[in-house]
Amino acid sequence: MIRLESVNVAFDGRVVLENVTVQLQEQRIGIIGLNGSGKSTFVRLLNGLQLPDKGTVYVDDLDSQQEGRKIRRRVGFVFQNPDNQIVYPTVREDMSFGLKNLRFPKEDIEQRIEKALIAYGIEHLADRLTHQLSGGEKQLVALVGVLIMQPEYIVLDEPTTLLDLKNKRLLMSIIRDLGQRVIMVTHDLDLLVDFDRVLCFHDGKLASDGQPASVINEYLQLCDQ
Ligand SMILES: Nc1ncnc2c1ncn2[C@@H]1O[C@H](COP(=O)(O)OP(=O)(O)O)[C@@H](O)[C@H]1O
Ligand SMILES: [Mg+2]
Repeated sequence: MIRLESVNVAFDGRVVLENVTVQLQEQRIGIIGLNGSGKSTFVRLLNGLQLPDKGTVYVDDLDSQQEGRKIRRRVGFVFQNPDNQIVYPTVREDMSFGLKNLRFPKEDIEQRIEKALIAYGIEHLADRLTHQLSGGEKQLVALVGVLIMQPEYIVLDEPTTLLDLKNKRLLMSIIRDLGQRVIMVTHDLDLLVDFDRVLCFHDGKLASDGQPASVINEYLQLCDQ
């Protein structure tokens, strides 16, 4: 379980997340809110990319102030912009990067990559140059690059922004079948209808929290204001 207790985050003295206390234990949780409401800051707290200025973040009782490394192995993070994630010239090389870091044997790495490429339907991209991929292809590669590490939680920050309808469906079917817990920021509200829970941020506060239909409804009212 991931747990935030009285968390504040400020940038240059401006509070962007205020007194957030929440426990995340459902299988699939959606995060919504207007631009600048604090969604990315919130999800960055979940794997220690962002540390709280006040309060505490625990991942399975590991404190993010002290156990950042362990937490990052446990919580995989798919960035909004895949260019921040993909570093190697080819997809295959990029996939092996994290596994090499964890010192998996070479053969094991190759097998895992092969299996993942096929399982997630991107084997045709394996030997392509990463910088030549389309934005949507990069987004998928970035996701599979995180899944291959088999983290216990998967956090995704607007993973569908660059995807066409077909790849959006592919991504959602991947997410639906994952054994891991998923926390996903999105503006695609229709993707959240079968999620277990949705959180809505507004002006740095957790403004609404509950079943998708009711939280989305409150969000739509906010948008009309
Ligand atoms: N590294 C940073 N330095 C200064 N301000 C930041 C930084 N990151 C985010 N902010 C500000 O914090 C607020 C919340 O940002 P963010 O969490 O990215 O919102 P969202 O993802 O909901 O659009 C915004 O006003 C943004 O400009
Ligand atoms: Mg954001």
